[in-house]
Amino acid sequence: MAKVLWSGRLEDKPEAEAFAFQASINIDQRLAEDDVRGSRAHVAMLAARGILPSDIADKLDKGLEDIAAELNGGTLAVDPDAEDIHSFIEGVLTERLGDIGKMVHAGRSRNDQVALDFRLYLKRFVPEIIDEMKRTVNCLLDRAEEHAGSIMPGYTHLQRAQPVTLGHHLAAWCAGLVRDLGRFSDALARLDECPLGAGALAGSSLPLDRNMTSGLLGFKNPTLNSMDSVADRDFALELASSAAICMVHLSRFCEDVVIWASEEFKFIDLEEAWSTGSSIMPQKKNPDFAELIRGKSGRAAGNLVTLLTLLKGLPYAYDKDLQEDKEALFDSLDTVKVCLAMFRGMMKGARFNTDRMKSACIGGFLEATDAAEYLVRKGLPFRSAHEAAALVVRDCVEAGQKTIAERSLEQLKTRCALFEADIFDALKPEACVAARNLPGGPARDEVMRQINKLRERM
Ligand code: ARG
Repeated sequence: MAKVLWSGRLEDKPEAEAFAFQASINIDQRLAEDDVRGSRAHVAMLAARGILPSDIADKLDKGLEDIAAELNGGTLAVDPDAEDIHSFIEGVLTERLGDIGKMVHAGRSRNDQVALDFRLYLKRFVPEIIDEMKRTVNCLLDRAEEHAGSIMPGYTHLQRAQPVTLGHHLAAWCAGLVRDLGRFSDALARLDECPLGAGALAGSSLPLDRNMTSGLLGFKNPTLNSMDSVADRDFALELASSAAICMVHLSRFCEDVVIWASEEFKFIDLEEAWSTGSSIMPQKKNPDFAELIRGKSGRAAGNLVTLLTLLKGLPYAYDKDLQEDKEALFDSLDTVKVCLAMFRGMMKGARFNTDRMKSACIGGFLEATDAAEYLVRKGLPFRSAHEAAALVVRDCVEAGQKTIAERSLEQLKTRCALFEADIFDALKPEACVAARNLPGGPARDEVMRQINKLRERM
């Protein structure tokens, strides 16, 4: 086992099992490239401030550059027995450069270092999630456009409610995803501050230039308060929350898909390549991808609770508990990223059974609200119109009729004299949808406007 960074103070090292317990290398090795980037900026700044002679700084910089290149090229492997990525990289540097390697950590602590690495990593990883999200929304909006006129039942309480279109339904999903996108970018904008120079918690007596390192590393500005810099994990909470909300969205969409794929609904026919079979039941074609995405939303919710609970009782400033932050957030971000891609793959080529969707608009009295609004247009107060339409529905049920249009005009007039012959056209599903052309509604032109608006917002 390599020498630890704190061996000067503590003679006895934890036993192997205990050392491994407190190590974080298996999780934070993902931060290798960020750690090197941070160190190179730190070294450049130490030289600029005359804390390090420039020839030494050059050697350190070259050493760090080599380490990054070798890690990247696979010629240098992360030592699984190292304590964390920071000590591993400093260790390799010192092994190779001797005393020069020992100069890199001046004015720095692993506390500001890990806060920096974490933010640098998120600044490159979160845009990948945002990109995945854009591709998913674009794919869904294409499908929405294709089906802007495909009539289907809209549901409340999972009971047929009013006719809408598939385009309207898919655009509803996208509205949620576009808000998710906004949440991720907001979090990204807020985390764009550089904690380097905060030291362990109280900065440094060395004349560091925090503006310089912040600028070199592409941050908007250095963080304001050194204690906050090492204690703060708001950015992790915000991103875990954005991921949890996005996963809850995907989970609900998947629930729609699972329902639609059932024999009872048969609204969607998933491609064979995006379905799985059964080991015993030869006939099965299961929507496993949708179910698994729905299942994985549990992790994202759990990770958010993990992080909130982790932070809740922590005294300021840094505590080792914080080491647990990365595993939870990495898992949430990995999960949301892959689930967005899988959901897109599943939806891209899915076939919608539009005939079946349309015929499901017959036989649940989805036109009843339109009958009531028809009467309102004829001057009847809404409450009376609601009652008249409800009585008509009761009449239909008693007579075994599936739609209001199956009743004759005379029969309708027994419930309200204001019914005229034009009621029959007004009750067709196409007419019900076309009439709902308010902003936000399911009418074709309006859905197209929503789709364009959503594309713009991205
Ligand atoms: N592995 C640690 C983490 O992820 C790095 C900081 C450790 N600092 C310390 N004083 N033990 O939080």
